[in-house]
Amino acid sequence: IPVEPFDLVIFGGTGDLARRKIWPALFRRFVAGQIEGDVRLIGAARGGMDSAAFKEFVNKAILKHGGEESGRTDDLSSFLEMLHYVTLDARGDAGWVELAVLMRPDRIRAFYFSVAPSLFGDLAKRLHAHGMADDTSRIVVEKPFGRDLETSRDLNRVLALHFDECQIFRIDHYLGKETVQNLMAIRFGNVLFEPLWNSQYVDHIQITVAESVGVGGRGDYYDKSGAMRDMVQNHMMQLLCLIAMEPPAKFDPDAVRDEKLKVIRALDPVRGADVVRGQYEAQGERPDYRTQVEDPESTTESFVALKALISNWRWAGTPFYLRTGKRLRDRASEIAVVFKDAPHSIFGADAGRHRNILTIRLQPNEGIELGVTIKEPGPGGMRLIDVPLDMTFSEALGPEDADFPDAYERLIMDVIRGNQTLFMRGDEVEAAWAWTDPIIADWAESAAPPLPYVSGSSGPDEALMLMHRDGRRWREIK
Ligand code: BG6
Repeated sequence: IPVEPFDLVIFGGTGDLARRKIWPALFRRFVAGQIEGDVRLIGAARGGMDSAAFKEFVNKAILKHGGEESGRTDDLSSFLEMLHYVTLDARGDAGWVELAVLMRPDRIRAFYFSVAPSLFGDLAKRLHAHGMADDTSRIVVEKPFGRDLETSRDLNRVLALHFDECQIFRIDHYLGKETVQNLMAIRFGNVLFEPLWNSQYVDHIQITVAESVGVGGRGDYYDKSGAMRDMVQNHMMQLLCLIAMEPPAKFDPDAVRDEKLKVIRALDPVRGADVVRGQYEAQGERPDYRTQVEDPESTTESFVALKALISNWRWAGTPFYLRTGKRLRDRASEIAVVFKDAPHSIFGADAGRHRNILTIRLQPNEGIELGVTIKEPGPGGMRLIDVPLDMTFSEALGPEDADFPDAYERLIMDVIRGNQTLFMRGDEVEAAWAWTDPIIADWAESAAPPLPYVSGSSGPDEALMLMHRDGRRWREIK
């Protein structure tokens, strides 16, 4: 269904995110027929570029990152006709009048801040000063949303000077991933799971977001962040919330976000021994973390594993183990809900210990798997084995329907539709920082370096210990 006509500005329109994600996502939505009619897509950036050079930039970005659709040359040239470029100074006057002329007042007007957070305030102020911050306007801001509670509060305050909360769309691209949204469908669209979804039946939950890539060319940014700020405070936290939250009464923005916020606020502080941080070392051709960043003595973590406890009626006593890192064995993200053993085995001790595990594979190979215990075939008596009920979405839905849109496609269209359900509210972001800040502060205080782990491994051994000492183990990263 096409969205209403709109004018959209991408500040930082020639930056890396715009090149890799935003322009290709817009193009794919255009090909899908969701963007049509008289729409203006405006790139704004500091660097002087003429309109032809900008179109060539977007053209190249789409050819490289636009997937199969980029082969549709007629569509591509029609798309390029919607583009405009404005040279603009976020901290000065240059370009603002020109931009204001391009943005039509009778349209939905959206402004995507794909720039450093230090510019958010300047952009908001100038949008207001030039009459572009009215009721139909909305702004989109990227992570990192601050680097701690204090800076995130400052950002919220600065944006709130000119925009209402319902106009501010804070992106966490994990929420735009099809399988992440599926978490809610699985939980609240089926009667099967919800009655068991609590500490009475769930032994523990594992959330893994493993990446095989290193910090690559992003060393400058990453070294100032580390895995805790880059992944845990936002993406991992969102996954945890969707798994742990109470059923919202409606699938509506505040109902969902209220429930997520309650989860974050119910998290216990994480103690020293319950968190492990690591940094990758060289292995073969793969370089050492410290050679990829400016500081050869860097103590920034590229891996975090931790045990989180939620102190509420539903989850008291069921740990959530989270781990994420770069340069791990494989790229694999999954959530495993590990159920408790059956209370009594009628088959005797020989039958062994069996438990159901529901695994939600986020990427790659999106799907759901439920481990079920059955009888081992054959005449050998009542021996039990575990078999997977495996639903790989591409098989179950057919390759076409399982060709999921990129997270940014969904999220940008939601901005135009004005639907904030999959965006973070200001209080949610602050609560997440309030939980991560003390962990980061403990590290700074202890001055202990992160634990080394070999590139291509599954992280430091201490991360394994985090579970072993509780008599549990991580699922293998494959
Ligand atoms: C980004 C992080 O937000 O998410 C990156 O800054 C990380 O460091 C990326 O690689 C992971 O996203 P995805 O979609 O590839 O799992």
